[in-house]
Amino acid sequence: MHTTSELQEIIEKAIKGLSYSNHPKNLYDPISYIMNLGGKRLRPALVLLAADLFNGSLDEALPAALAIETFHNFTLIHDDIMDNAPLRRGQQTVHEKWGTNNAILSGDVMMVESNKLLTKVKVSVLKEVLDTFNATAQGVCEGQQLDMEFESRNDVSIEEYIDMIRLKTAVLVGGAMKIGAIVGGANEADANLIYDFGENLGIAFQLQDDILDVYGDPEKFGKQVGGDIIANKKTYLLLKLQEIVNTEDAVLLDQQAGNKDTLLKIERVTALYNQYDVKDLAVEQMRNYLDKAFAALSAINVPQHQKEEISGLANELMNRES
Ligand code: IPE
Ligand code: IPE
Ligand code: MG
Ligand code: MG
Ligand code: MG
Repeated sequence: MHTTSELQEIIEKAIKGLSYSNHPKNLYDPISYIMNLGGKRLRPALVLLAADLFNGSLDEALPAALAIETFHNFTLIHDDIMDNAPLRRGQQTVHEKWGTNNAILSGDVMMVESNKLLTKVKVSVLKEVLDTFNATAQGVCEGQQLDMEFESRNDVSIEEYIDMIRLKTAVLVGGAMKIGAIVGGANEADANLIYDFGENLGIAFQLQDDILDVYGDPEKFGKQVGGDIIANKKTYLLLKLQEIVNTEDAVLLDQQAGNKDTLLKIERVTALYNQYDVKDLAVEQMRNYLDKAFAALSAINVPQHQKEEISGLANELMNRES
């Protein structure tokens, strides 16, 4: 068994060692750029933690971990185009730096690079790993589509929202862990349980991301604070507010959707969030999903003490600042 920080060191080193073709330069430079901007490296760490949990070989799991991080970074490039985001990990987004068309194509190549890395897993588990990866990647696209459609809808339910974040974010967290478990030799029941752990953790993670989008410290968050408010994203905070707001404030809130003065819009919506304490309600919901995640983790058929690195990481994530 390894500690999370040992695994993260292995991942950082391996990411530094990745190299891409250099022609055409503008196709490949954005890949090196985004891959080396930092980030928490959460998903590759979860791949390795899952493999390690079942006493699998880290060398065998590492290419899969790199594939998952490459895929994640690809989704960030395309997500930043869709969300019109200027900042990622404290730096300019790829489409701001290279232009949108370039960002689309570099993202596409990253999907190919992910596949190339995935084919390095041992042949005996290759099909299962690819099936899991493909289901995950498709889920992310479905979630991203819903996320965009919700921007212009005013009747999104909390149930629909949870399903949307399950798809855009949580299936990748679950899929990463399932892939690690498969490579690590887990049986099907345990691989599915670790998927459930990851999926519920992913839902909690996205709830936290939505909270940080409003309440994050701009110095530490690395993304534009208030970006979700500007884009009329249907976050838990907004949906909960819509549910409990009084008639007069509801009018004020509705008016903000079309407010072109972005600073004032952020200020007004945030003031309403504060007034109705919706952050506390979001944190409560986050804890519910974390509890569900832990229930799945404890059902996995390995000694409880071997799960401590994973549960420790999950708990730490809920107090993150970026
Ligand atoms: C950002 O993921 C996208 C979401 C699902 C919220 P992370 O918060 O893991 O981003 P990095 O990789 O650490 O920058
Ligand atoms: C993340 O949703 C989903 C994916 C990147 C697939 P967000 O749009 O909230 O992610 P951030 O906040 O830009 O990282
Ligand atoms: Mg975004
Ligand atoms: Mg988005
Ligand atoms: Mg976000």
